[in-house]
Amino acid sequence: MDDLKRQLDQELGQARSLEDLERIRVAYLGKKGSITTLSRTTDFGALGPEERKDFGRRFNELKQAAEQALAETKARLEQAGGGRLSGAVDLTLPGAGRRLGSLHPISLVQMELEQIFQGMSFVVGSGFHVEREHYNFDALNIPPDHPAREMQDTFWLTNGMLLRTHTSANQVRMLEKHGAPLRAIFPGRCFRYENVDASHENTFYQVEGLMVDKGVTISHLIAVMKSLLDQVFHQDVKVRLRPGYFPFVEPGFELDCQCLICHGAGCKTCKHSGWIELLPCGMVHPVVLRHGGVDPEQYSGFAFGLGLTRLAMMKYGIPEIRLMNSGDVRFLEQFPAAV
Ligand code: PHE
Repeated sequence: MDDLKRQLDQELGQARSLEDLERIRVAYLGKKGSITTLSRTTDFGALGPEERKDFGRRFNELKQAAEQALAETKARLEQAGGGRLSGAVDLTLPGAGRRLGSLHPISLVQMELEQIFQGMSFVVGSGFHVEREHYNFDALNIPPDHPAREMQDTFWLTNGMLLRTHTSANQVRMLEKHGAPLRAIFPGRCFRYENVDASHENTFYQVEGLMVDKGVTISHLIAVMKSLLDQVFHQDVKVRLRPGYFPFVEPGFELDCQCLICHGAGCKTCKHSGWIELLPCGMVHPVVLRHGGVDPEQYSGFAFGLGLTRLAMMKYGIPEIRLMNSGDVRFLEQFPAAV
C-alpha cells in the first residue's frame, strides 16, 4: 500500500494536464485500478483476524489519501491554466508564432539606394504615376513625331494624359521646382504596354538621378555611378561606358558593370560577354535644361535611369520578374522585415 501511494504521488507530480490526471485516476481508482482491485488480489485466507481488520482500515485510509491527492493535483493544474476547463491564461506558453510582414525586395533596394545617395548630398523626390505628355516626352526632347516614342510603348489615358513610361518624366519637374544647382534622385513606379514574360513586366521600378551644377562632366557621372555600384554590391565593381541613344542626353551612354558572377570570364548570366548592361545615362541635353528654366551656358549635368526591379533581381538572385508583383507570401517572406 505504501508503495502504491508513493507511485501515485510520483505520477501526480508529473501530471501536466487534466487528461493526464484522468488517466492516473482511472489507473488507480477506476474499476480495474490498482487500488480498487487491491482487496481482490489479496489472499485473506493467509491473514489473521487482527491483520484483516488492519488491512481494512489501511485500505480505506489509502483510498481517502489517493482521492485527496487527486483533488489537490486538479486544483494545481487548473490554477496553472494547464486545464481546458479553467480558461485561465498561461503566460509561460510559447507564442502563437505569428510574424510581422516583410519588406518587398524592391523597397529594400530602394531604401538602400536612398541612403547611399543621401550620403552624397542628393535629395530624394517623387513624381506622378499619371503624367502629362509634356513631361514624359516633349520636355525631354521627344516631340510627337519622334521615333524614340516607339521605344516606350505607352498606356494612354482617354483624357490625353499617360502612365509615365520612365522616371525621367520627373527631370524637368525637379528642375522647374528646385532650379540649379541640383542633386536629386527620384525613385518610382513606371508603366509600359509590354507583354509580360520572365523578364518583362508592364509595371516596374526605376530610380532616376540628376546632378546639375557648374562644371559637371562625364568624370562626375562615372565616379558617382561607380561609388553607387561598389556600395550596392559590396565590392569593387568594374564599369565601362558604351555609346547609347536617348534624346534627352548628349552624349548618351549605356553603363555596363563587369559580371559579378564570373568576374568577366563569361557565363550564362552575362550571356558570355563578361559584362552586364546596367544603367543608361548621359549628360543632360541643353534642350532639357532650358525646359527646366536652367541656362545651359552656365550649367551642365548628368542623368541616369537605374532599373530598380532589375537591380533587385540581380542583388537577390531572383530569376523571374513576375514574382515581384505576384503578392505571393512564400516569395515575400524570404526577405527581412527591416534593414
Ligand atoms: N529614361 C530612360 C529609359 O527608361 C533611361 C535614361 C535615364 C537614360 C536617364 C538616360 C538618362 O529608358
